Amino acid sequence: MIEVRALSKRFGSHVVLREVSLQIPQGQTTYIIGRSGSGKTVLLKHIVGLLRPDSGSILIDGQEVTHFTRAQWFALRRRFGYVFQGAALFDSLTVFENVVLPLYEHDVRDRELLHAEARRALSAVGLLPPLEEQHTELFRREYEQLCSKYPSALSGGMRKRVGIARALVGAPEYLFYDEPTSGIDPVTSEQIDQLIAELAQRLRVTSVVITHDLVSVFRVAQRVALLEEGRIVFDGSPQELLSSPEPIVQRFLERYRLPWAE
Ligand SMILES: Nc1ncnc2c1ncn2[C@@H]1O[C@H](COP(=O)(O)OP(=O)(O)OP(=O)(O)O)[C@@H](O)[C@H]1O
Ligand SMILES: [Mg+2]
Repeated sequence: MIEVRALSKRFGSHVVLREVSLQIPQGQTTYIIGRSGSGKTVLLKHIVGLLRPDSGSILIDGQEVTHFTRAQWFALRRRFGYVFQGAALFDSLTVFENVVLPLYEHDVRDRELLHAEARRALSAVGLLPPLEEQHTELFRREYEQLCSKYPSALSGGMRKRVGIARALVGAPEYLFYDEPTSGIDPVTSEQIDQLIAELAQRLRVTSVVITHDLVSVFRVAQRVALLEEGRIVFDGSPQELLSSPEPIVQRFLERYRLPWAE
């Protein structure tokens, strides 16, 4: 379980997080929503150790990690999978190289192991057939073709899936997604939502998803937190979000209207 306690962060005079406290329960899928610039990505970057807070703390499985050294963070990050905002694949690397990058960074060089992990992850995100269908000659060709492609040859939806596959290598316990459905059409978004829900169930991971998309929240989230100007103004179930009397919550729901709430 992840516990964020009174986390504050400013960049120069710009205060971005104001005493944010949030619990991310084990095995559940928690969505963090909020307007652009409300501090969602900054919060997530603190949880994975890419930013250090000015004050406050983060506990991961009961252990205070805020003062971890680089080496300790490096070791901890093996348990995390991170899907960056905008998928963020490296254009100069192939699909295979992009997917196994986290393992490579952790000094895994065994080609067979890297390929086994790539096959597992690409199959988990639906870009390859299931593992039990992976011993045919046809599969081998399909795998080689996909692996040698560069991101520029992929559709937006495929790039998102490759970004998720990269987060899955090394069997993480925690999956973090930063805007996994932004910039793709509603049908592809729904498929990505289904994938997030399915991975959470099948792999029993704890997932944290950042989004603007209320439709995704009501499709997948078990918990939802609303961030507004660096403060958590709501934390509860999606149903509680809908019925919250808080004016800030009501305003957010009105602005980011659900299509069926017309
Ligand atoms: N490294 C940084 N240096 C200075 N300011 C930063 C830095 N990172 C983020 N900020 C600022 O912090 C604020 C919150 O940024 P953040 O990226 O968390 O927003 P967000 O809620 O993820 O928005 P979006 O939905 O557009 O992705 C913004 O005003 C941003 O300019
Ligand atoms: Mg962001």
